[in-house]
Parts: sequence; C-alpha cells; structure tokens
Amino acid sequence: MTAQKKILLIIGGGIASYKSLDFIRKLKEKNFEVKGVLTKAGEQFITPLSVASITGNSVPTDLFDPDNEAHFSHIELARWADLIVVAPATADFIAKAANGLANDLASTILLAATSRVVFAPAMNVRMWENQATQDNIRQLESYGYAFMGPTHGSMACGEYGMGRMLEPLDMVSKVEQILLPIITSKFKAIVTSGPTREAIDPVRYISNLSSGKQGSEIANALYNKGVDVVFVTGPGSSLPQAGMEIIEVNSAEDMLEGVLKSLPADVFISAAAVSDWKAVAYSEQKLKKSDQDQNLHLTFVQNPDILQTISKSGKNRPKLVVGFAAETNDLRNNSNQKLTQKGCDWILGNDIGEGTNVMGGDYNQILFLNQTASENWPRMTKKDVGEKLADKILAFLNDKGS
Ligand code: C5P
Repeated sequence: MTAQKKILLIIGGGIASYKSLDFIRKLKEKNFEVKGVLTKAGEQFITPLSVASITGNSVPTDLFDPDNEAHFSHIELARWADLIVVAPATADFIAKAANGLANDLASTILLAATSRVVFAPAMNVRMWENQATQDNIRQLESYGYAFMGPTHGSMACGEYGMGRMLEPLDMVSKVEQILLPIITSKFKAIVTSGPTREAIDPVRYISNLSSGKQGSEIANALYNKGVDVVFVTGPGSSLPQAGMEIIEVNSAEDMLEGVLKSLPADVFISAAAVSDWKAVAYSEQKLKKSDQDQNLHLTFVQNPDILQTISKSGKNRPKLVVGFAAETNDLRNNSNQKLTQKGCDWILGNDIGEGTNVMGGDYNQILFLNQTASENWPRMTKKDVGEKLADKILAFLNDKGS
C-alpha cells in the first residue's frame, strides 16, 4: 500500500476556479490528501470556506497572517506537498512565477517549493497566444515546471479557442501519471550525495565542492518512479523532495554506517564526493599557531571506500551498484579503472576539469561504462541525467526480476 500522496492546490482567479472544487473532490475520491491556497483573485470566484469544507483542511490566504505562520508556515506548506498544482493558472500568475516574484502567499509558496509543480492554465485564447505568455511558459518549462492543458473549447467570454482549463477528471489522471508510479515500491534504492566533512579540530575540516545536486536529482527521479529511496547525504548539500528517508551525516565513516544500516537494497548509487582522506588525529582543542613551528603538519589516512565496501559486501550486495568517477583528466581510462578496482556494475564518469562547471553547476556530461558497454551521454541538466539513470536502473531491475 502506497503512502497517501499530498497535493497542494493553488487556486488562481478565473472563471475556471469553480472547476477546482470538483477537482478537489475527485482527488479526494482517489485518496489524495489536498490542501488549498487561494490567490486574492481566486477569492473573488470561490471562498476559502468552500475550499476548506471540501479539503477538510484550513485555507491560508494571507502571507502576513500571524496565525497562519505560527500554525503552519508558508515554507512548511511548500515542503509538505508531494505535488503542487496551480489550477487555474492565470496569465498573471504564470508571469509572476516565470519572473520569480514572491509578493503573496501563493507565489511565495511556489518559490520556496522543492516538490514538483504542475500548472493548469486557463485564460482567454488571445491571452494564451500572446507572445509574453508563451515566453513565460517556456521559461517555466526550462525551470522544470510541468503543464497540463489548456485545451480547445468555448470560453466563458464567448470566444472559442485554446485556453480552456482541462476538465477535473483529466487533471486527476495527469496528477496520477505524475505521482503514482507504475511499479509501486517494488524496489529500494540507497543514494549517497554531497560532500563529506572530515574534522581536523572543533572548527576546521577538509571537504570538497560537491553540491549534492546530481545525487538529489537521481533520488527524485527514482522516487517519482515509485522506488523507495534512502538518501544518505553529506552536510550543506541539496536535499531531494519530501517523502524519502533522509540520513544526514558528516564524515565518510558516518556515511558508510548510514549506508550499511540501510541495507538490504536493490540498488546502491554512490553519487557522493566522499573524502578519500581524514586526519589521523582529531584535535579536541582548536589548533593554535603558538603550538606549531612555522608550518602546520597534518597527517591524513585513507577513509573507507564506501563504494568498494558495498560492491564487495557478499550476500548483502545490492543487485546493482553504481559509482561515479569525477575526473579532471583521462576520463575514460580512470573511469574504466574504477569500474574494475571498486567492483561496481556501472560507472558514470564526468569531467570536472576547469571550465566545465560540473561541481555545483546544473549541467553534467556523462560517460557511462559497464563491463560490456560504453555510452557518451550528451551534455544535459542534472535533472535529466537523474531521469535517464533512473530509467536505466528500473529497466535493469525489472529485467532481473522477471
Ligand atoms: O576513487 P574516487 O573517489 O574517485 O571514486 C569515486 C566513486 O567512489 C564515487 O562513486 C564515490 O561516491 C565513491 N567513493 C566512496 N568512498 C570513498 C571515495 C569514493 O564511496 N571513500
């Protein structure tokens, strides 16, 4: 049985707003939990009371309402949802979102959201066709937002054309397509992500520039395809969307422990940039210049290699073990060597040389290697790498399972 999925519905102001009530009812019939937020314009068409009655949840309307903020802040609301649906999405709201404005509750929630967002536009055909609206939509799509509709039809204003909001039943189907995976929790994945931090003294550590963006996008993609994901992450790095088990760690040793205690799993993806070394001796007191000669001499020992440990973990070994090789030179050779040395099944090599902006950036270019194949993936967003890898993993696991 899958956990009940949570939908946050942002209701904009348009004649199609009335359909949102029916949409909520139909979502609830399908066992979704729904919370509603009305824009000021939305309140001109339907009341917070009717939305609260149908959802069974209170309906905040004001960003600056101290009661709301004390009870369940807009940030919590943004994080609460598995999916945010904007329906109807007016031309005005789309323009606001495309420009990152956050001057009311609904737009602030959207900007703070980490979950997926889908817009259901509804507007007059000329407004829909207007270049400004179309540009705003392209902009939002480039940020990863999804759209459902609009469709052709007659409009409240008497005109006919594109701009009619989808019918509630069609919107529910789209929501199900986005949220309910084809294979429900059939597989479990452990994903490591971000850097590790190896303490030297109470205030100093060695670490690296990993942002955790790639790891969190892989976790998101797997999770959205119905995989149970345990996300083991180093400090200060990108977190995936709500719903997964998250284990936050500092050092490589803690990360290994987090992974080991999460086994068994069907797949292990080692996307973390684990520090290869740690200081031999941790100083309980802050190191002082006066205690050293001119130079500070620190000795480092190797950390456990998590990927290698899991790859060689015998009967507990996941069916599929995937590593990364971030290289500044000789990508193919180094990646190939890692595949053999570490004993993993797949390696995703990426060039992190100067100018590539892979560490911390939003794009990646992957050299995919296994024992029999080598693929050069084109440069794409880390989100797209996550999707592609998740599809490949599921194809592999489904194949193994059958
Ligand atoms: O040897 P190198 O650090 O370049 O290997 C990269 C791969 O190994 C990544 O998948 C990384 O997550 C993993 N790794 C690890 N434990 C370490 C070092 C690297 O799991 N101590």
